[in-house]
Amino acid sequence: MKALAPLALALLCALQAMPARADDSLYTQLGGKPALEAVVDGLLQRATQDARIKDFFKETNLKFLRTQLVDQLCAVTGGPCRYEGETMKNAHAAMGLNLAHFNALVEDLQDALDAAGVPFATQGRLLALLAPMHRDIVTR
Ligand code: HEM
Repeated sequence: MKALAPLALALLCALQAMPARADDSLYTQLGGKPALEAVVDGLLQRATQDARIKDFFKETNLKFLRTQLVDQLCAVTGGPCRYEGETMKNAHAAMGLNLAHFNALVEDLQDALDAAGVPFATQGRLLALLAPMHRDIVTR
């Protein structure tokens, strides 16, 4: 039994030296910050050209919205960001959005995720996080 002690010690040392378990957050699965930025750019490009919803973005500072969206998506997917913007209720209250508007934006997001090469299952995880937000965003 005693003869195994050095072996056990060596094993423990080896385990200590190993990097922490790979991060399995959705943020990492999506591809981190560069991937989120590409997805948000793709989403805004599509939404601002989508006849069903583009008018909502006419007066919007798109650069600011991009920053807010990247921070929010990074934070909700477990990334190293803080979202300090408006609540979803406050941000969308004056727009009078209905479910068709919401679904149109989600379609644009899915197209942007496809274009960024995000696998279907990972897309599903992200959409599952965002879908419940319709309760605060859709007001009519
Ligand atoms: C899950 C769905 C959605 C998410 C996660 C989301 C997220 C956000 C965020 C983070 C902001 C910035 C808030 C701030 O000012 O700090 C914002 C603003 C905005 N959202 Fe959404 N949104 C969603 C749905 C929609 C939909 C369906 C529309 C319209 C069809 C829309 C149109 C806008 C516009 C126009 C602004 C900017 C308002 C302004 O100019 O101040 N959003 N959204």
